[in-house]
Amino acid sequence: MATASTIILGTGSYAPARILTNADLAKMVDTSDEWIRTRSGIRERHIAAPGEATSDLAVAAARAALADAKLQPKDIDLLIVATVTPDQPLPAASCAIQHKLGIPTHAACFDLNAACSGFVYALDTASAMLASGRYRHALVIGAEKLSAITNWKDRTTCVLFGDGAGAVVLGVSHEPGVGLLGTKLGAYGDSADLLCIPRGGSSNPATAESIAAGDHFIQMKGKEVFKIAVRAMEEAARDILEQQGLHADQIALVIPHQANLRIIESISQYLELPMERFYVNLERYGNTSSASIPIALDEARRAGRIKRGDITLLVAFGAGLTYGAALVRW
Ligand code: ACO
Repeated sequence: MATASTIILGTGSYAPARILTNADLAKMVDTSDEWIRTRSGIRERHIAAPGEATSDLAVAAARAALADAKLQPKDIDLLIVATVTPDQPLPAASCAIQHKLGIPTHAACFDLNAACSGFVYALDTASAMLASGRYRHALVIGAEKLSAITNWKDRTTCVLFGDGAGAVVLGVSHEPGVGLLGTKLGAYGDSADLLCIPRGGSSNPATAESIAAGDHFIQMKGKEVFKIAVRAMEEAARDILEQQGLHADQIALVIPHQANLRIIESISQYLELPMERFYVNLERYGNTSSASIPIALDEARRAGRIKRGDITLLVAFGAGLTYGAALVRW
């Protein structure tokens, strides 16, 4: 019998109704549509309603993925939620999502924080757990309400982020050569300070002063992060292709983390793959961190951009600084 591999049985995504355009942002901070578009490629982003939590976005995406997979919540025995914005610091968002969806109590549920690389990390983790033979169906969600940790007075970050969720249902196949072919994960922990929330954790609990200073929001040294992002994503893509003995030209579609169009264009040049082979939707979502790849994956599938037999490359980069790449044959 062929060895078991992880396959994607269904995908789903959800974005909150409210749209914040670049023109709206230009009324809030000293910026312009032109600056945001030319520096990042972003035109608008979705923003969750005040009462809408990360778990609500995740549940909507998960319901769509379960329907696509023709499975029920009762079929799920493993739930991994990639997020940097759980509903509360404690407990994990996955437990709220399990409860809202009606996933059984025998299911393992946990959150994973690898920032914008979180979905690729969660995919790899779920795949290893499925390969153990102790789980049958995994639900992997990337969900973020980044608007809750964004400093809306800081023009260097607030123009970049958005809210949303994407989900996949995973199962096991014995058909040779399909599913998750391989993954490559890593991190540059020495550069963690370039992209972080400085206060509010155990090393630096929040104080009235730190909150007044906005130190409980995301802070980023954009230019430095940009350079490392380009290099890390290029190397991760090259390494995973080498690992699998594949050439870039064999990739039908690249689904990159949607942070900045210029980062994606650099990867396109490096891999010598035209931009038509990259799925880009950041102009409508901004950077949704863990949610960005599963939202793009779901959109690409529903738009008919992924066909049976195609090889898709997922490649991500985020706070940590983490990176990850995965190859999937459909
Ligand atoms: N509107 C107008 N001007 C602005 C804005 C703005 N919103 N933001 C910054 N500027 C100004 C700066 O102050 C600076 O002015 P100065 O030259 O007078 O000092 C100038 O514009 C250029 O700023 P840079 O930061 O050098 O602009 P850059 O071209 O590097 O683009 C950006 C900034 C878009 C943030 C880019 O660096 C980037 O995308 N970085 C990587 C982001 C990323 O990939 N993050 C990882 C994932 S995020 C996560 O994990 C949560």
